[in-house]
Amino acid sequence: MRIAVFASGSGSNFQALVEAIREQGIPASVEVVVCDKPSAYVLERARSLGVDTYVFRPKDYPSREAYETEIVAELQRRSIDLIVLAGYMRLITPVLVEPFYGRMINIHPALLPAFPGISSVRQALDYGVKVTGVTVHYVDGGMDTGPIIAQRSVEVLPGDTEESLSDRVHAVEHLLLPETVRLIAEGRVTLDGRMVSIRS
Ligand code: GRF
Repeated sequence: MRIAVFASGSGSNFQALVEAIREQGIPASVEVVVCDKPSAYVLERARSLGVDTYVFRPKDYPSREAYETEIVAELQRRSIDLIVLAGYMRLITPVLVEPFYGRMINIHPALLPAFPGISSVRQALDYGVKVTGVTVHYVDGGMDTGPIIAQRSVEVLPGDTEESLSDRVHAVEHLLLPETVRLIAEGRVTLDGRMVSIRS
């Protein structure tokens, strides 16, 4: 299964995924990192790991649709089977969603449908929940609204700061994303409306 990871920032999930694929024999390969920020640290990680990059500057294009049209062509040229959004901080349009519906997933640092959007760890702390977590879901046109594939909880501890809780959320993300990619790569995940089933 040929994967494109989309990321805008640090890329720790990208790195965890590439390492898990290589070390754990997941039948997949990350073919390219798509990035909208030329200075993002994910690009250094990609260089060290020997993964190709496709970098674009949104302001060079008249619209989101214009750069997404080029991205779709690039993904088709590379025969990409699955898009993994891992900290990609841009809204996406039907130009990207439609050709990849059911073949595009996102990792989100909260137990959806709680705390969608940005700053989800901060939102969870401010709300006072005792348990938050991580969600991996298919991407539809909405903001973190697509069918849920996998979730894992993370306890909020007394005295947690955004940083301490984020660290534990990230540690869980680095396990859950590769585990989910393995299930998809092994053909064990079925999508039917909002319902996702996983064959054991
Ligand atoms: C992760 O918390 C992910 O859930 C969210 O963006 C963050 C990306 O972190 N969508 P990193 O760049 O992979 O370190």
